[in-house]
Amino acid sequence: MGFFENMGNPQGKLGNMQLKSMNKEHTPVSLWGLKHLDIKDDDIILDIGCGGGMNVKRMAEKAKKVFGIDYSIVSVELSTEVNEDLIKNGLVEIVEGNVQSLPFEDETFDIVTAFETVYFWPDIEKCFGEVKRVLKPGGVFLIGMESNGDNNFIMKFWKHFIDMEMYTDEEIASFLENNGFSEITAYIRDGRKKQEIIKVNGKETRVNDDYSNVSFSDKFLEWVTVVAKK
Ligand SMILES: C[S@@+](CC[C@H](N)C(=O)[O-])C[C@H]1O[C@@H](n2cnc3c(N)ncnc32)[C@H](O)[C@@H]1O
Repeated sequence: MGFFENMGNPQGKLGNMQLKSMNKEHTPVSLWGLKHLDIKDDDIILDIGCGGGMNVKRMAEKAKKVFGIDYSIVSVELSTEVNEDLIKNGLVEIVEGNVQSLPFEDETFDIVTAFETVYFWPDIEKCFGEVKRVLKPGGVFLIGMESNGDNNFIMKFWKHFIDMEMYTDEEIASFLENNGFSEITAYIRDGRKKQEIIKVNGKETRVNDDYSNVSFSDKFLEWVTVVAKK
């Protein structure tokens, strides 16, 4: 596999290196996304497309237990390495598997997260149905993307080389709605205006969101986090 294919399915030594780099490069967008999640100490969480395992580690600081799943064995290995101590203490479990058919019972999780991964999911609407199946009633699904699927020129550049699909917050909201999710809220970071747009039922509010300390390229990305309830 080459550099571009590795983004959606990391393989070999190069894939391992790219995942380590993603653990670092995705930190700002992940932390920003996680601000919109209220993790309680008795929550059981599933992180789909866990990659290098940093978000599993972050969430395990607050939750009762965090599971990470990824269909790439290289991702599974690195997530296992990064979370070694937490796994020993029973706070984290990393498994190999595909979002299309999650190896978990119905209504297992309080929270399911998906950071920087939905671009690669085949038949995304069906995958969202699978997420709903494993969520407990009232459970929360968070989707984190460093693309608004529209006018984001850096992500548009990637799309020329990588087999991926980018979605707007409206598209994500409609996939969620079609699966019966409710209380859908989209948070969109407007880096240029240093504001965050909060969209609920088509209504927008803006709040100040100073992100002046992020890298140069991140200033131009329009990050999107969508949160919905089962
Ligand atoms: C760009 S990486 C993001 C990794 C990590 N979530 C992060 O934010 O750094 C995408 C990850 O999603 C995983 N992935 C893509 N499609 C998947 C699927 N259908 N089922 C499980 N994992 C998937 C890939 O193997 C890869 O590890």
